Amino acid sequence: MAPTAPPKAQPAATPTALWAAAIAQPATEFAPTALSVLEGQLPTGLRGTLYRNGPARLERGGTQFGHWFDGDGAVLRVRFDGATAVANYRYVRSAGFVEEEASDQCLYRGYGTLPPVSIWQRWQTQMKNAANTSVLALPDRLLALWEGGLPHRLELETLETLGLDILEGLRPSDTFTAHPKRHPRTGKIFSFGLVPGGNATLKLYRLSAAGAVEKTGTIPLSGIPLIHDCVLADRYLVFCVSPVRLSPLPALLGLSSFSDALQWQPQQGTQIIVVDADSLEAIALNAVDPWYQWHFGHSYLDFDGSIVFDVVRYPDFATNQYLKEVASGNIKTPADAQLWHYRIDPKTARILDQHCLIDRHCEFPIAIGQDETAVTYLNVHRDDSVPLSELFGAIARFDPKTGLTIADAGAGSYPCEPVPVENAANPEHPWVLTVVYNGYQHRSEVWVYEGHDLEKGPVCRLELPSVVPPSFHGTWVSQ
Ligand SMILES: [Fe+2]
Repeated sequence: MAPTAPPKAQPAATPTALWAAAIAQPATEFAPTALSVLEGQLPTGLRGTLYRNGPARLERGGTQFGHWFDGDGAVLRVRFDGATAVANYRYVRSAGFVEEEASDQCLYRGYGTLPPVSIWQRWQTQMKNAANTSVLALPDRLLALWEGGLPHRLELETLETLGLDILEGLRPSDTFTAHPKRHPRTGKIFSFGLVPGGNATLKLYRLSAAGAVEKTGTIPLSGIPLIHDCVLADRYLVFCVSPVRLSPLPALLGLSSFSDALQWQPQQGTQIIVVDADSLEAIALNAVDPWYQWHFGHSYLDFDGSIVFDVVRYPDFATNQYLKEVASGNIKTPADAQLWHYRIDPKTARILDQHCLIDRHCEFPIAIGQDETAVTYLNVHRDDSVPLSELFGAIARFDPKTGLTIADAGAGSYPCEPVPVENAANPEHPWVLTVVYNGYQHRSEVWVYEGHDLEKGPVCRLELPSVVPPSFHGTWVSQ
């Protein structure tokens, strides 16, 4: 009898969901630290500051927060001077964070979190301003943004929290989006917030470049929707109000979280509202097919007077469940979105053209440029075989002339939203910055790419002093 060959060793399956370790423990702050170069070299022309904001703590006193959106915000600052990079990282000291830190108990409600109190006490508990979604850099301060309340004012270098900021015109009860838009020509800032009620009101703000409210407007809405982002196209704003509506009673009584009380009502369609950016009055409204979006990408006003914008479009609201599951470290719900291109008539809000630009799952688009030649940077999956349980493992560049170029970060590495940085000396060659969680080494890194040549990989990798969990949004300030 012939000897039996020993069974071949099976290759170990590629571990997945290594990102979960990045959010399993509260993140640790660090004071300004010169970053060591792991690979490559810092471009000498890269001078300025990267700020990023994201949920850094998803547990308090044994209570796990129920949604990724509820993590306490912490801001990362990385200062580049052409030779070195220095980073600091600090929690936003919101009143709720300070109180929970002192008591080591979950005392507040969140978007998707209910505190561990009796059902009779829940309706009395307040929402905590998580201050965790994005940042707005103003000449004299940095704002940590969260769409359910006022921004927090931070010191630009130390990231010290200086309190809530009313921007010389907001009321304490006002809300302020995490996606204000800066007009590329005038520097004016356009923003909005929802005022709840039986039917919510969309409150609009135009602010000076320095961040002082100059004009407000209001637009009545139907029910209480969720509006995360908007389009600015020169003299117009566009809101796409997806058919998500809050069932207010269960949320107000504390029977369910706000997140769980949001209902997908596709029969309502998505409402496109065109707003005159000068008067802040609605000028056109149109109901179209239903979709959900968190984010818009590139936008501009075309020569023929039509508004052009890109949007990351989901077929429904399953993305909210997906984001809830991220907080548990275990994603089970699929929620794929594609980048779509729209052209609408501002006088009627009617769609003149719509088509898909990127048919693979993507998010967090940021464009460089003002017209049809603008290039968009965004997150995509590494390839089509990525398991459901994974976060984004690649960044990409979409050029309308040449299509999609993908920079795969490699298995177990998770780049967050790529931030393009204009290169004044060579506008065709911007840099792209992203913060990557390296799941194999359990560390976070800052990666610098050359935007025109993403495929060759990062030209510089820098090691951060401690793990910075995946974050939502950031910005770049030159010099
Ligand atoms: Fe966002």
